[in-house]
Amino acid sequence: MILTTQMHIDPSVIDLGVGQPQLALLPLQRIRRAAEARFAQGDPSFLQYGAEQGDGYLRQELAKFLSQGYGFPVDTEALFITNGASMGLDLVCTLFSQPGDAVFVEEPSYFLALRILADHRLRPVAISVDENGLIPEALEAELKRTRPAFLYTIPTFQNPSGYTLSQERRQCLAALSREYDFYIVADEVYHFLHYTAQPPRAFAGYTVEGNILSLGSFSKILAPGLRLGWIHTDAKRAKSFAHTGLLDSGGGMNPFTSALIRGMLESSEFDANLRELRQVYAARVAAMDSALRLYIPEAAYQTPQGGYFFWVRLPDGKDAEALMAQAEKYKVSFRPGVRFSSRGELRHYARLCFAYYEADQLIQGVERLKQALEA
Ligand SMILES: Cc1ncc(COP(=O)(O)O)c(C=O)c1O
Repeated sequence: MILTTQMHIDPSVIDLGVGQPQLALLPLQRIRRAAEARFAQGDPSFLQYGAEQGDGYLRQELAKFLSQGYGFPVDTEALFITNGASMGLDLVCTLFSQPGDAVFVEEPSYFLALRILADHRLRPVAISVDENGLIPEALEAELKRTRPAFLYTIPTFQNPSGYTLSQERRQCLAALSREYDFYIVADEVYHFLHYTAQPPRAFAGYTVEGNILSLGSFSKILAPGLRLGWIHTDAKRAKSFAHTGLLDSGGGMNPFTSALIRGMLESSEFDANLRELRQVYAARVAAMDSALRLYIPEAAYQTPQGGYFFWVRLPDGKDAEALMAQAEKYKVSFRPGVRFSSRGELRHYARLCFAYYEADQLIQGVERLKQALEA
C-alpha cells in the first residue's frame, strides 16, 4: 500500500479517483541532473533564507517561460513564488478575507479548495457553470445580492468538469471584477496541460482589465513534491504579498527548490518534460474515451481537451455515492460528484482521472465500472 498525505491507494483497486500523476511520470533523472548542476556550482546561497517575493532568478526564468507559453509579456516583478497553488489560495484567504465572508465558487469546484476555504471559516456561494465555464449572468445576479471576499475559479480544464471558460466570458468576468470591485482568484494549474488546441488567453493576462490573482504551480507540469508555484498579478500587488508575517519570519518560499528548478527552466529539460507529459496524457484521454464509448455508451461527458479528468453523468440518473459501494466489490473507484458540490448536489456525476494509470489499466477500470453499474 502506498501512503501519501493526499490518500492511500490499494494496489488491487483501480482508483480513478486519484488526482495525481503516476510515479513513473515524475522526472527523477531530470531533477537529479538539475540538482547536481546546482550543487556543483559551490554557491551555498540557496540554503540561506530566501528573498520574500521569491528567488529572483527563478522569477526571471519563469517570466520567460510564461511569456512564451501565454503569448503575452510577463513581468518578473508581477510574480510571487509560493509553495504551490494550495498555499497561494491559503495566503489569499489570509490576506483578503475575514471569517464568515462569502467566497464565490463554481458548481462544481475543486473539493480540496473548498476545504481551504472552510479552514478560513469562509462561506462558499455556488455559481452555475456550463460547458463554457462559469456563467457571467449567474455571477452578476449573485453580485447584486452578495459582496464576496473573492471569486475562486478554475478557468481552464477545470477540476472536476474539464470545462474551459471561453475567451468572451474571461473578458466579461474581468470587467465585472472592476465594476463590482472584487478579486478573481484564477487557479490556472492545468493551463499548460493542453492536448488538442491552445486554451484561451490565461486569466493572468487580464491584470490590466480586472482584479486578478492567477495561481500557477509546478505540481501538474513537473512534480507535486517540489511544492513550488506562483501567484501572478500586477507588480504592486505581488510586492504586497511579500510584506506579511509568514514571509517576514520564514523568508521567501522554497529557495532550495527554486534554485534547482531555475536550472531546469534555463535548459531544455523543462520544455522536453512538458512535451512528453502532453503526449502521454493525450494517449490516455484517447484510451479512456474509447473505453467509455465501448463499455458505458449511455454515460454523458465531454471529451477533455486538457487537464486530468473526465466528468461523467452516470446513466439512468444513478447516484454516484451508491455506486461507490458496488464499485468496491469490483475493485474500482472514482470520486463522486457530490464531493465537488458546495450545496450537496451533483449526485449523479463521477470524476474519473486519467493521469495516474496507464492506458490498459484505465480501460480495465472502465470495464470494472461497467460491471459495477450493471450489478
Ligand atoms: C484545481 C487545482 N488547484 C490546486 C491543486 C493543488 O495544487 P498544488 O499542488 O500546486 O498546491 C490541484 C491539485 O489537484 C488542483 O486540481
